[in-house]
Amino acid sequence: MASKNGKNILIVDDSLDTLELIKRNLKSKNYTVVTASSAQSAVDILENHKIDLLITDLKMPKVDGLNLIKHVKRNYNDLGIIMITGFATIDGAVKAIKAGSEEFIPKPFTDQELFKAIEKVLANLETRRSAAKKQTNSIITGMIGDSHPMKKVYARICKAASTSSATVFITGESGTGKELAARAIHYTSSRSSDPFIPIHCAGIPEELLENELFGHVKGSFTGAYETRAGFFQTADGGTIFLDEIAETPLSIQVKLLRVLQEKEIFMIGSRKSQKVNVRIIAATNKDIEKAVESGSFRKDLFYRLNVVNIKLPPLRERGNDIFLLLNLFLEKFSKELNKPLAKFSDETLDILKNYSWPGNVRELQNVINQITIMSEGEIINVSDLPKLFYSSTIKNDYFNAPLSYVIKDHIQKVLENHANNKTKAAKTLGIDRKTLAKYLNSK
Ligand SMILES: Nc1ncnc2c1ncn2[C@@H]1O[C@H](COP(=O)(O)OP(=O)(O)OP(=O)(O)O)[C@@H](O)[C@H]1O
Ligand SMILES: [Mg+2]
Repeated sequence: MASKNGKNILIVDDSLDTLELIKRNLKSKNYTVVTASSAQSAVDILENHKIDLLITDLKMPKVDGLNLIKHVKRNYNDLGIIMITGFATIDGAVKAIKAGSEEFIPKPFTDQELFKAIEKVLANLETRRSAAKKQTNSIITGMIGDSHPMKKVYARICKAASTSSATVFITGESGTGKELAARAIHYTSSRSSDPFIPIHCAGIPEELLENELFGHVKGSFTGAYETRAGFFQTADGGTIFLDEIAETPLSIQVKLLRVLQEKEIFMIGSRKSQKVNVRIIAATNKDIEKAVESGSFRKDLFYRLNVVNIKLPPLRERGNDIFLLLNLFLEKFSKELNKPLAKFSDETLDILKNYSWPGNVRELQNVINQITIMSEGEIINVSDLPKLFYSSTIKNDYFNAPLSYVIKDHIQKVLENHANNKTKAAKTLGIDRKTLAKYLNSK
């Protein structure tokens, strides 16, 4: 059998006998084994060791295996998970798989069953790791996410990048990464050493836009003291990104059509055309088909632009990508602000995951920036979220809760904030330690 050296396995079970038994078995197969007798100590180990595979029991006092798996899925994306349990029910298996476990083994199991499950999960892990390596292109270009809809986007980007002249039309809500996708296409295409020029078509007055795009010759209008090139000449060999294309005036649309058909432009004031070699990528967050229907956008231009179509999914449809993005931005801003890296509490993550993110990745980035600036503790609690989120949780969780629950919950949060120092928490709350203990012990 091939050597399994180098794979680190963490086993979590509250029964020391089971831990010992599995450990001995796995060591005989040359795996490196670490054990933990509770979910809490597993969390510590995961933080400090590189673990390839987690094998956890389901029923454990305090924090059970399901919650451990949820924690792992949220914080680590590069390890395999197997759940073992003596309480084998279909329901348990379904929950385990839903939480992110890849294999579920009911107790009692034979060594062979265990080894088979381990080999399968580790083989899957290898496949995922090599797929991730292949995706380095998207990592280089800064696009984060490995959800199914984003994988489809990467495939389209690769397809677009493999041609040098096909026009690309990118749609998607605001803040979904349209410009990022356009850059990714340019920088992974054969045009990458020539310029990438983004132009925000909305908001630039008509005459100015024409001038910006195509340039002018000396004396073509009052104030035209010099001949000046436009973006199409500057971008020669490269890519022009026409953002918010739906808002381009009709007079400019005709000229863009000409660029696409004839590959040539006219500078303002010149009757001589100039050949240009530029790829056009256009984007909009508006409903372009509606604009075509209403006549504010030329149908022929739309067809010419829409050779490769890329639709960026809204963040709320990207599943667990949200955790990747949260952790990435948290790391980035903590570094920038020279702050120690904090961690999101599970409750905070739940709220962030369930929020609808109308401003998508840009909004998420802004929220994490704000949190990093404002938060002080090691843990990012619900109270550290901008007000918008805080009030929505109170609405969801608290309005049906008895007062005693709300009080206890609040005390626990304050305690967490003071690293479980009861004296400090009691002081913050304006109560004595005895009262604090009384509330905490209440049902
Ligand atoms: N998948 C992603 N991974 C990492 N960062 C991302 C991702 N998508 C977007 N961003 C970041 O989010 C911000 C918004 O992205 P971008 O400007 O590309 O969005 P857009 O769709 O062009 O938005 P708008 O419609 O408002 O112009 C940028 O800072 C970008 O770097
Ligand atoms: Mg944009």
